Amino acid sequence: MASVLAVPLLLCLLASASAARFAPADNHLLACGATAPAVLPDGRRFVPDSGCASTRLRSPAPTLPSAASSAAPQPTPLHAAARVFSCRASYDLAVRRRGYHVLRLHFYPFEPALASARFHVGAAGFLLLHNFSASAPVVKEFILPVHSDVLVLTFVPESGSNAFVNAIELVSAPDELVGDIGTLVTSSGTDQNNGLSSQVYEMLYRINVAGRKVTPFNDTLWRTWVNDERFLVSTESSNSGVWSFGGRIAYPKGSRLMTREVAPDNVYNSARSVSSQGKVTWGFPVPASSRYLVRMHFCDIVSKALNELYFDIYVNGQLAVKDFDISGATGFLAYPYYIDFVVDVEDEVALKLAIGGSKNSRSDEVSGILNAVEIMRMNKTNGGIDGDFAVSLGMEYVASKGIGEFARSLLCGFIFAVLAALASYFGPHVLIAKSFW
Ligand SMILES: *[C@@H]1O[C@H](CO)[C@@H](O)[C@H](O)[C@H]1NC(C)=O
Ligand SMILES: *[C@@H]1O[C@H](CO)[C@@H](O)[C@H](O)[C@H]1NC(C)=O
Ligand SMILES: *[C@@H]1O[C@H](CO)[C@@H](O)[C@H](O)[C@H]1NC(C)=O
Repeated sequence: MASVLAVPLLLCLLASASAARFAPADNHLLACGATAPAVLPDGRRFVPDSGCASTRLRSPAPTLPSAASSAAPQPTPLHAAARVFSCRASYDLAVRRRGYHVLRLHFYPFEPALASARFHVGAAGFLLLHNFSASAPVVKEFILPVHSDVLVLTFVPESGSNAFVNAIELVSAPDELVGDIGTLVTSSGTDQNNGLSSQVYEMLYRINVAGRKVTPFNDTLWRTWVNDERFLVSTESSNSGVWSFGGRIAYPKGSRLMTREVAPDNVYNSARSVSSQGKVTWGFPVPASSRYLVRMHFCDIVSKALNELYFDIYVNGQLAVKDFDISGATGFLAYPYYIDFVVDVEDEVALKLAIGGSKNSRSDEVSGILNAVEIMRMNKTNGGIDGDFAVSLGMEYVASKGIGEFARSLLCGFIFAVLAALASYFGPHVLIAKSFW
């Protein structure tokens, strides 16, 4: 009898889960340089970047066919081809819904020439990657506001080099993904930091604390979350514990702020705990002289009742929250919650995060928890995330104004030494520039 009942129940659960699945207004999935669509294990279908109605490629560029190489593991079909640019080129991606978008750029250097390529990437008026080189396979992810009907994604090779890309994802972000208010943590204390919802973010780390890897298959925003173990700096096993939860994560019904798009169940249902006497510290290597958004996710999957946990949160060595009362913040057990911290890292080699126990907690064994962490680099100027020197300011101009303006900016004193070398590359594209004016 039970099994007869179970089947329709399961079907019904599956139906409701799929109905609730996030459906982005914009969902560009491009297999660059490919001749046939590539379907990923998560079901997404990437289409070749030529001949797609909502995408226009503005540079005639050669395509490198797939090639076996000893340097990198065998590429998947999505990464077996690349679009290679010997000169500046842009993709125009149609935007149906303005606002935050997630942009993922896949770089899979299957040839030595690709691994040594140096180039710059700009989008929506921001310099995203400066003098970038992908010596190993990497997916770069950005979360950026788009205020126009077209996102112009521009690749500019360093002089004497090429630029390349294997795949592009541009997906509308749900509104709840980026909040406006964070807690600024400095050596002199904490302060409210407004205006987070106009920044550009480069995703550096997405960590599922004490949990297993979550792949795009199990994440409605097609994110990847990795285990935290290799980032642990100091843990005495007596001072920390590992938890996993088989129950249901209590996402608030009908909430516009906390949904599975903030982080999925698989991320909230594991945690690492700290004892009332202990401190657990993680360290994440980050580029110096940048501002970071640190999103720490908490979900009390360990307590039997409310108001058992109290703990301290440290960001970059500073006490950011004293005696955090997670029940006071959520009002329920197994209820997901996060705090956004903003922190400037000047010269440290690693951004350190920690949870420390408190004597106010009910139990000595478990005083506090951490379920997940995201670390994003923020733009440091109006136009760039990656670098702030003269050449990047020139680039930012390029990215926002297009080729015609770029040609003009050359006449206006944009570093001439570089120009002389670049001039020949730009020759044929003056024609393209003209067609835009
Ligand atoms: C890019 O990096 C290379 C190697 O580090 C360096 O030689 C070159 O000057 C850099 N170019 C710019 C524009 O920063
Ligand atoms: C998705 O999550 C479920 C439940 O945690 C797990 O059993 C499954 O292996 C995951 N699938 C993938 C492809 O990660
Ligand atoms: C980042 O860019 C946005 C949009 O141009 C701007 O409002 C913000 O002030 C910039 N952030 C910094 C730290 O300059």
